[in-house]
Amino acid sequence: MAGPLAGQTAIITGASGGLGEHFARLLASAGAQVALTARRLDRIERLAGDIAASGGRAMALQLDIARAEEIPRVFGEVEAAMGPVSILVNNAGVGGDGLALDITVETWDQTFDVNVRGVFFAAQAAARLMLTNGAAERAEARIVNIASIASHTVLPGLSVYNASKASVAMLTRSLAREWSRRGIAVNALAPGYIETDINAQWWGTEGGQKQLKGFPRRRLMEATDLDAAFMMLCGPAGKAIAGSLITIDDGQSLPGGG
Ligand SMILES: NC(=O)c1ccc[n+]([C@@H]2O[C@H](COP(=O)([O-])OP(=O)(O)OC[C@H]3O[C@@H](n4cnc5c(N)ncnc54)[C@H](OP(=O)(O)O)[C@@H]3O)[C@@H](O)[C@H]2O)c1
Repeated sequence: MAGPLAGQTAIITGASGGLGEHFARLLASAGAQVALTARRLDRIERLAGDIAASGGRAMALQLDIARAEEIPRVFGEVEAAMGPVSILVNNAGVGGDGLALDITVETWDQTFDVNVRGVFFAAQAAARLMLTNGAAERAEARIVNIASIASHTVLPGLSVYNASKASVAMLTRSLAREWSRRGIAVNALAPGYIETDINAQWWGTEGGQKQLKGFPRRRLMEATDLDAAFMMLCGPAGKAIAGSLITIDDGQSLPGGG
């Protein structure tokens, strides 16, 4: 498919719904070949079919990102089928809900295994490919981590999630410091609240309505609000952006919001 990312191959983690599905469609419509990963294979296979029906090229591969030892094999399968991987969207994430007094060791581990360990080892696996497949040498290699306003703002009742997303922000800067000289741009997006499965049941509650009314614009964002910044980080315009955390939140993290 023609477009600014024609010839690029992107891996999207957590592509089975929400923002990951949105990013996958966006990359495909910009001409990239997309490799969709998630645990729910039926959903990513359906999405791959949709993208192919619109003239794009997509493949679906089941991957539980918490099983870090599986990541290199799956990313290797993408490269074997689609050619050099040049873009990784580290999107898979879980909410880690629960007040601090109620959090279990299992919730802590699951949140960090997906939101932090998964992000790190996916970035490592992608970087190893990018450094040998020519993408880094051509300065086309991009890693975009999906952080959150929780990376820098206390979201009430989400201590474990907040800590995990703060870790994503620091990992982004650390990996950018190591890899930008070698041609890989590592950056992060920090979105505000967008209604997806991760938070859908919250907005109808009294607490959710109260939080929403506290936002400067008294509304949630739309996934499409992220498109311009996301595409900048994935494409040629991102060449000189390294280690940045770009907040797009409709003002939600301004004091008095959140
Ligand atoms: N929505 C928001 O307001 C918001 C704001 C800021 C940041 N974010 C971040 O955006 C990212 C996407 O979230 P979303 O809002 O789109 O939520 P979502 O609709 O719940 O989607 C989460 C995605 O992560 C995948 N995932 C979860 N655990 C996984 C695992 N162990 N292995 C592989 N994939 C896994 C899910 O796929 P499977 O269940 O099929 O595996 C799903 O595709 C997350 O990192 C989230 O923290 C969201």
